[in-house]
Amino acid sequence: MPTPSGAGAGLRLPHLADVVATRPSAAWFEIHPENFLANPHAAELLCDIARDYPISVHSVGVSIGSAGGIDRAHLARVRALVERTDPILVSGHLAWSTHAGEYLNDLLPLPYTEQTLRIVSAHVDEVQDALGRQYLVENPSSYVGFTASTMTEVAFLSELVHRTGCAILCDVSNIYLSAHNLGFDRDRYLAELPVDAIAELHLGGFTSEPEEGGGEVLIDTHGSRIAEPVWAFYARALERFGRKPTLIEWDNDVPALDVILAEAARADAVAESAFAQRPRHALAS
Ligand SMILES: [Fe+2]
Repeated sequence: MPTPSGAGAGLRLPHLADVVATRPSAAWFEIHPENFLANPHAAELLCDIARDYPISVHSVGVSIGSAGGIDRAHLARVRALVERTDPILVSGHLAWSTHAGEYLNDLLPLPYTEQTLRIVSAHVDEVQDALGRQYLVENPSSYVGFTASTMTEVAFLSELVHRTGCAILCDVSNIYLSAHNLGFDRDRYLAELPVDAIAELHLGGFTSEPEEGGGEVLIDTHGSRIAEPVWAFYARALERFGRKPTLIEWDNDVPALDVILAEAARADAVAESAFAQRPRHALAS
């Protein structure tokens, strides 16, 4: 299926049967393969949905940042689901979540060094070889930085693209909250990302919690509507990257699908407005 220009919605298990039965108006859906690998009934419903909607596969378990290597058995299972659903995009995170055979249910941060870059590049090469297609790597939500880092996150991602030919899934909300939490300039981050490598955008809700000693930390909960300042930042991302497939992520306190699709409709409206306000030649392709 062709890659859609409209915004899509994260498809979570509570909504599967509803989508099969009612075929709601939606541009595309993104799924986490880990929800389907041990659930044959859900996988059957997904394959039914994939016949009518473009699907994006977004793995939360392919740990490209693990120093000990990728779980090849897990990668083979993801590949099998990719072959069954023929997705428009396949993506994962710049993070690690496995160590010594243990799966840690979190996306953990990496120090941005040449050594890390060599490890992550080798793993992205391995993933792309196994899947036989380009892999999209997503910028993480961050709460701590490493004093060991020798390059910025955006420089790390740019070099990863250069070395592996991967693409970038730019999570606009993650840039916003990481910039707040770590104190970097979000507009500069946006300006330094390689435009040609951006293949998808994410938007997700976050919550604010008080920090010891004052201030607040933004937590990437994917459990609420998109915050108003993030909509404005999303418009700036569109001005920089042009219109890209955008996904609304909602993983906790999952509401009725209509609520998520309404957020997707708002993303489309923001895009229409961003493109209407500028002559086409002034926008990136
Ligand atoms: Fe995301």
